[in-house]
Order: sequence, then structure tokens, then C-alpha cells
Amino acid sequence: MSKVHVFDHPLILHKLAILRDTRTGHKEFRELVEELAMLMAFEATRSHPTKEVEVETPLARARGRSIAGQEIAVIPILRAGLAMEVGITRLIPTARVGHVGIYRDPETLEPHSYYAKLPPDIADREAMVLDPMLATGGSIVACADTLKQHGCRTIRVMAIISAPEGIKKVQQAHPDVEIFTAAIDDYLNDHGYIVPGLGDAGDRLFGTK
Ligand code: PRP
Ligand code: URA
Repeated sequence: MSKVHVFDHPLILHKLAILRDTRTGHKEFRELVEELAMLMAFEATRSHPTKEVEVETPLARARGRSIAGQEIAVIPILRAGLAMEVGITRLIPTARVGHVGIYRDPETLEPHSYYAKLPPDIADREAMVLDPMLATGGSIVACADTLKQHGCRTIRVMAIISAPEGIKKVQQAHPDVEIFTAAIDDYLNDHGYIVPGLGDAGDRLFGTK
């Protein structure tokens, strides 16, 4: 069964509470999503392997450590994942970025994949999938299907808010996929929205409603 990590860092919790607030406008909302993504990636990469390196300081040689192991490909799901990408590529500037376009049919809630442009060496990389909302889980399952079809074997999902139903669906379809989230909310309403959630992440990010 895939592991689920729920962050409890005070800065993450503080920013998440402001993000949820209906009075938060789209400029601040976008900045908060970027910051939350950065903090979540900081926590999620805690166990990433490092290797010893030597550097010359102005005074002497010093031992240090640099990032080793599998290189990362950041995979934002269009469109709400784009704001998370901004934060994470600030933290991991050399990461390759693959874009996956998926939208959810508002009636059936089924995911529809309409775009995928991945780094050519995606099979050798760890994919860090970004989407602020993991609701029914359909979009994440479809994204993991696409990544696996391209040979990717290490997939980690970063979702700011998740629903229990969506986590279960991802775990059943892709038990090897790890999920990192700042909150597991109560339930999905009849329209597939996470409750209490934050509403429609794409619309709040881009001011489209
Ligand atoms: C939202 C959200 C996720 C998806 C989650 O996107 O950003 O991608 O819904 O729902 P699911 O877990 O039930 O699949 P949406 O489909 O509204 O598209 P948008 O980003 O273009 O607004
Ligand atoms: N997509 C969103 O943006 N919000 C939800 O609550 C569910 C899906």
C-alpha cells in the first residue's frame, strides 16, 4: 500500500489556513501555493541521498555533501499544478519539468488527458507530480498511468489538500506511488469538491471565476 505523509510543520499549517480562507484573493492565493509547494518539497526531499564532496574555501579544503541519487522531474498537472511548479523549481532549479494536461468532466468527474510533454529521460528520473487538490483521485491516477507508460518507476505526489476517497483510489490503482499532503479533509460533496477544502483551486489561482 502506498505511503501517505501528512505534513505538520507550523509554517505549512499556517499558510494552509490562509489559503483556505474565502477572503484570500488570487494574488495572495498564488503566492501561498508557491510557498506551500516549496515547503512541502523541502520536507519531502529530507531522505534524498547525498554524496560527499570536497570544496576549497578561502582558508582550507572542506568536506560537504551534495545531492545524489535519482534526478528529479517535476510534473505539474495543468492547470493548478503550475503555481506549485514555480515554488518547487525555485528550490530545485535544475529539475526537468514535464507538463501533463488533465481536466475533470464536471458531470461525470472522470479525468480527461489532453496533453503530455515529458523529459525524454523520464524513465530514469523520480517524478514529483504536482496538483494542489487530490479529490476523487482520478487525475492523479491518470497522470501516474501516463508516467508509467513512459517507463517512469518512481512517482511521488505532492497535493496540498487531499480527500480520503482520492487517497484510497490512488492507493488501489498505484500502491507504489507515495503521497505527500498538508491535509486530509473530511469528504467529497456531490459535485466532487473537497469539504472543507478551498473551493476550485484553478479558479482561485488564476481569477477565472
Ligand atoms: C482540479 C484539480 C485537480 C483535479 C482534482 O482540476 O486541480 O487537477 O481537479 O480532481 P480529481 O482528484 O477528482 O481528479 P480541474 O479538472 O478542475 O482542471 P483545472 O486545473 O484546469 O481547473
Ligand atoms: N478540484 C478543485 O479545484 N477543488 C476541489 O475541491 C476538487 C477538485
